[in-house]
Amino acid sequence: MTEISYQINATDGRARTGVINTPRGEIRTPAFMPVGTAATVKAMMPESVRQTGADILLGNTYHLMLRPTAERVDRLGGLHKFMNWDRPILTDSGGFQVMSLASLRKLTERGVTFKSHIDGSKHEITPERSMEIQKLLGSDIVMCFDECPALPADRDRIASSMELSMRWAKRSKDAFGDRPGHALFGIQQGGLEEDLRQQSADALRDIGFGGYAIGGLAVGEGQEAMFGCLDYAPEQLPQDKPRYLMGVGKPDDIVGAVARGIDMMDCVLPSRSGRTGQVFTRKGVLNIKNARHMDDPRPLDEDCGCPACQNYSRAYLHHVFRSQEMISSMLLTWHNLHYYQDLMAGMRDAITAGTFEAWQRDFHANRAQGDI
Ligand code: GUN
Ligand code: ZN
Repeated sequence: MTEISYQINATDGRARTGVINTPRGEIRTPAFMPVGTAATVKAMMPESVRQTGADILLGNTYHLMLRPTAERVDRLGGLHKFMNWDRPILTDSGGFQVMSLASLRKLTERGVTFKSHIDGSKHEITPERSMEIQKLLGSDIVMCFDECPALPADRDRIASSMELSMRWAKRSKDAFGDRPGHALFGIQQGGLEEDLRQQSADALRDIGFGGYAIGGLAVGEGQEAMFGCLDYAPEQLPQDKPRYLMGVGKPDDIVGAVARGIDMMDCVLPSRSGRTGQVFTRKGVLNIKNARHMDDPRPLDEDCGCPACQNYSRAYLHHVFRSQEMISSMLLTWHNLHYYQDLMAGMRDAITAGTFEAWQRDFHANRAQGDI
């Protein structure tokens, strides 16, 4: 099998469940992709990430081009071998991270120049260079090079930015070429403007991609506005290809996105929160730093099968967090990623069974109980 294909197995309302087949394995959708920015999901061994149920990881062009460089990763056999993860990897294209992390950014028709947040060295990314880097990394799912304006922005700025991203999408496709076993995804932009989102979707569909991402959301607009956009944006994109909502989100964001037709998501939240003591459970969020956990012999979540919940008390996890022991980040990240993957598996099962609406009611009811 050399091609990447998407098979939808069941739908329930606008929600879908299926499988993306790749030469490196299946991606069950709706899929949550843990973020492995710097060739590691922080505090986790790759085999542990797999044990949480992840089928695919996300990596970042921006970070890896600066350190250790894409050329070095290539010389060492590619990103999969380098980080010891042999399943699919999706890489983001760099522009979004330049805008949030780099300094002295200069945006032109050609691309973006910037100074590294690591050592101040000067770099350029163009659509062509982003495709080259993602190829050197050996990414299975490559993202188009795009630009995403911070919201709120005025309509003219959002329109011209979207139009630039669509010209870059065409250049990305031309530079990507024909690579059996690898897919290139387009990225829809257009802020919260329905007609601009439609124009963007039409432009991407004309170019033709293996999948379609929704970009430019979760950038400060709030959940209500994001859901407002997701009430139309997924339907503007092809029905028969994966739809990926970039950078989302909290558990209730993810559930709302899946209900609106999203198939893939990524977010640093479960892994980053694992390092700051924020824990996701079926009943809501708790902070392990809180003194009320100091004498608590119970696990984080009675219904969780992860090693943190099977083998350790809240009292222990509180202690190692307060003591800044590394095992704290390891166990809390494991739990959070396990929780996210359980959430996705629960949605896949409910969509398959045609009971997704009842599943969503239970999800919200469980979280409303308070006193976690
Ligand atoms: N990550 C979150 N949002 C975006 C976006 O709009 N574009 C890209 N490339 N990455 C993102
Ligand atoms: Zn757990």
